[in-house]
Amino acid sequence: MSRATGRLTVLHLSDVHITRDGRLYDRVDGVARLRAVGEYVTRTGVTPEAIVVTGDLIERGNGDAYESVRDAFDELERATRTPVLTVLGNHDDADRARVLRGHEGGHHRVVLVDELRFLLLDSSRGELGAEQIAWIRRTLRAPHGEGTVVALHHPPLGSPMPVLARAGLRDAAAFLDAIAGSDVRTVLAGHFHHPMSATLRDIPVSVGPALSYHQVMDAGPDHVSGHDRAMFSLVHLLPGGISATSIGLEHPDPLFTSPISR
Ligand SMILES: [Fe+2]
Repeated sequence: MSRATGRLTVLHLSDVHITRDGRLYDRVDGVARLRAVGEYVTRTGVTPEAIVVTGDLIERGNGDAYESVRDAFDELERATRTPVLTVLGNHDDADRARVLRGHEGGHHRVVLVDELRFLLLDSSRGELGAEQIAWIRRTLRAPHGEGTVVALHHPPLGSPMPVLARAGLRDAAAFLDAIAGSDVRTVLAGHFHHPMSATLRDIPVSVGPALSYHQVMDAGPDHVSGHDRAMFSLVHLLPGGISATSIGLEHPDPLFTSPISR
């Protein structure tokens, strides 16, 4: 926690879509983008409590890329001295992802990082299912320290994009019933490849942008269109709420750079 601000910080990455030959659509190098995130952390001096990655770690059909995914997350942990916590998305392969750290025995778990509790969920089949929801209820029965951050791939609501309007978590209502009234401070999700924020049952939900490609909002009523733009989210847990800031990795030519007098 930053002593100056009293806030806790979570770096939220999503939808890395790493491929076995290193490049998605011949252009997007997910491993290089994870390295760029590490450089952002060291360059800016941000000190996150944890780095959370909300699924689609690989592009579908690239299960043999998980060793390089694991190595890339190890490198990010070392570079930032911050634990990297991952969940699976619909592109992930539940069997082959067991080589990832923390996934050896299953894909949902609880991780304590000092006073913060992370509930890492498995929605790789588009839903959590009754068993996992019962586990969430049991786990949240007792509050923890500074509260709980929930991470899962599928947002518990639809996107405003017509083609993604029904792409949220299928058992969202049961999930929200399970976390309502608990010490959950925020839900972090991905999947849509565009940032979005919501408040459901009084809990802030932050859908992070994607590290691999950005879904533009004007692709038409029956299209999706991914553009080469890499972003992630910087989440601050504040004494009275949260903030989530989308950060781009691109550096187009600056229009201006000038000092600010304080
Ligand atoms: Fe994705």
